[in-house]
Amino acid sequence: MSDALIQAAQAARARAYAPYSNFHVGAALETDDGTVFPGCNVENASYGACFCAERTALVSAVVAGHQRFRRIAIASDAAEPVAPCGLCRQMLAEFGTELEIVSIGARGGQVTWRLDALLPHAFTRKDLRGNA
Ligand code: THU
Repeated sequence: MSDALIQAAQAARARAYAPYSNFHVGAALETDDGTVFPGCNVENASYGACFCAERTALVSAVVAGHQRFRRIAIASDAAEPVAPCGLCRQMLAEFGTELEIVSIGARGGQVTWRLDALLPHAFTRKDLRGNA
């Protein structure tokens, strides 16, 4: 994992809009051509409308025309590295379950997983009959 991707996630964390949880998360998603898309959590008074950092990065990249991803870095306020939530795992899996996920804790610890280890037996487009 390059320091640049981690630094991009940490910089994105500073832009989190999290007045309800006060839990700030940044993400940086790297495409197959090396482009990096930052994301941060964006909360809302209607709590169910909140976006996680991983999903804002993903949506931003797709809007820009990218659909192939190598790695995502996540930096949060938690002392130890956090794993992405189930909803984010599912959304990331749409674009490939071999994605490398690196999470950085506020104390500096770092953990790496592959998405298919965090979301085994994922439901994907292959499961939709007639849409393989
Ligand atoms: N959150 C993320 O952005 N990413 C994660 O991996 C875990 C949780 C956000 C969602 C919400 O805004 C806040 O953190 C508390 O759950």
